[in-house]
Amino acid sequence: MLDRVGEPTGKNYPRTMKDNGDLAVTGMYDWTPGFFPGSLWYIYELTGDTIWRNQAEKWTTTLEPLKTFTGHHDLGFMVYCSYGNAERLAPKPEYKDIIIESAKSLSTRYDERTKSIKSWNYRKAWNDTTEWFFPVIVDNMMNLEMLFAASQLSGDKRYYDIAVTHANSTMKNHLREDYSSYHVVDYDTITGNVKYQGTCQGFSDNSTWSRGQAWIIYGYTMMYRETKDSKYLETAIKTADFYLKNLPEDLVPLWDFNVGEAGYTPEGKSYAVTFEEKLKDASAAAITCSALFELGQLAQNKTYTETAIKMLHSLASPAYRAQLGENADFLLMHSVGSIPHKVEIDKPLTYADYYFLEALVRYKNLKKE
Ligand code: GLY
Repeated sequence: MLDRVGEPTGKNYPRTMKDNGDLAVTGMYDWTPGFFPGSLWYIYELTGDTIWRNQAEKWTTTLEPLKTFTGHHDLGFMVYCSYGNAERLAPKPEYKDIIIESAKSLSTRYDERTKSIKSWNYRKAWNDTTEWFFPVIVDNMMNLEMLFAASQLSGDKRYYDIAVTHANSTMKNHLREDYSSYHVVDYDTITGNVKYQGTCQGFSDNSTWSRGQAWIIYGYTMMYRETKDSKYLETAIKTADFYLKNLPEDLVPLWDFNVGEAGYTPEGKSYAVTFEEKLKDASAAAITCSALFELGQLAQNKTYTETAIKMLHSLASPAYRAQLGENADFLLMHSVGSIPHKVEIDKPLTYADYYFLEALVRYKNLKKE
């Protein structure tokens, strides 16, 4: 991948593969630039070879301008997967300041009325009528880890409090009784009340988008690690149990748990209205696999750990792991970016690789114990 992509320019972070097999990259203000540097950090951690650390540093430091970015909620993914791993594996004084300043920028999107961080700015739902003024998506749980780190690094508890308050709102408003989830909740900006519960990247408003469920499992496992509040552990366990009981034999979920089922109907401009193939999403599997290694330890539940190991074997099998030099040099095949948006359908994704590598690190650490 390093040979293919060349030197970092601030505009060439690997993301996926084009239909013709070429590498597709993004600029730094998309949500995924942190994953390639983060993957390089994990390869350094796995191998101990300084070649990888040098490359990881080079790819990480191009992201410094992000520290003042406030355009959407994904700063945790963007800065913490890169600088967070840098601070953990090869700390430098400036990394701390960048993480703290990024947390400050992310916190500008927090609102006391909704008790949440605004994920996206104004947009419309797939029916093209419903307007979202304060949309929050479950993915946002993943951006909270940087806030905990910033609290520790700065001694400012405000970031910790925002993370806890946001996680509590998501727990209350995104989860159904059976611990499945709504991808999007829109809040009234004046009263803070919930106005809409539905989807943007899932099959239908009442369905459960697999990667969204994966973000939740990972997010509440991390919340328990950071706070030791048992309600987060319970949420991680119950959302994981929903996910696990809806898996096919190879432990890689369909891109949405309800795709094509009676009672679930995509709307309006969503490509899911006409797209009928029941594809799987290896990215959801990689995220959940990594989360289950941690959940197994925190919940002292061997079944989660054993399931995580089986998931890792499934992802590492020829069914999902690409041959060297193929797949535009990404590790994993068969992920889904967003079927409703008609993008990245059955393609590699940089974040699938990142969480696969993270899962390998967690597996290796487990074996050392
Ligand atoms: N956070 C965006 C996604 O999971 O596609």
